[in-house]
Amino acid sequence: MIKKAIIPAAGYGTRSLPITKVVPKELFPIGNKPAIHYVVEEAVLAGVEEILIIVSRTKNMISDYFDRSLELETFLKQNNKSHLLEKMKIPEIRIQYIRQTFARGLGDAILLGKSFVGNEAFAVLLPDEIILGHENTGLSQLVSQYEKHKNSVLGLAEVEQHKLSNYGVISPENKNDQFIKVASIVEKPKLNPPSNLAVMGRYIFNPAIFHFLEKTKPDATGEIQLTDAMNSMLLLEDFDGILIEGDRYDISKLEEYIAANQFVQFKEKC
Ligand code: G1P
Repeated sequence: MIKKAIIPAAGYGTRSLPITKVVPKELFPIGNKPAIHYVVEEAVLAGVEEILIIVSRTKNMISDYFDRSLELETFLKQNNKSHLLEKMKIPEIRIQYIRQTFARGLGDAILLGKSFVGNEAFAVLLPDEIILGHENTGLSQLVSQYEKHKNSVLGLAEVEQHKLSNYGVISPENKNDQFIKVASIVEKPKLNPPSNLAVMGRYIFNPAIFHFLEKTKPDATGEIQLTDAMNSMLLLEDFDGILIEGDRYDISKLEEYIAANQFVQFKEKC
């Protein structure tokens, strides 16, 4: 149903400095795999067949990671270490890359995927949010909701008041057991958040979002905000929200990054 996904990975990772001077946030290890490996796996498990990763000049290591390493494979085979080849496996999916030349924000990054997506609904996964520990991966839950109404879908979570200023926060039109109808979204509200329901970096968009992204003017910081485009689109099209089940970890917050590693380590021991 949802065959294409965009993973924006072009940001500077300023919240995780100084390590992000040299190591892209997307490659921070969780267990022995980089964070973005889990996000690509999540997309594959949800039925996605093609991924576009938006990168920047300093992110070439991401494409190196998802490529084969023939030299290392040959070394392992010739040195009686073939059992380790299993560990070299990368998710089986076609991945393309495009560079965002100017740091013009999340909306601009997604707009770079317009010709990749064409005229079909697609997913966006922000790779600083890792979802672990649920049999239905985060994106699969959004795909199930999309199948019901064919509306764009936002993955949400209930967040403590003092953390809401880190997220896009929705104003719900109504809320029932199955889904939440979204009225509008406020990006990183400093005062009076409209609810405790925050956008968790998982989206399914109908392709009309590109039209609204193209019309969105940069904000005061020069960035094109995805949230502004979503608010314009919400005036004309419905958006469904669902509460994502599973354990979420924002790896740009040190305590959550450590918790994600503890989770994976615990799972490996079991
Ligand atoms: C972005 C979005 C925000 C969303 C968040 C989820 O913000 O703009 O609406 O809630 O991701 O992680 P960022 O974290 O890139 O500043």
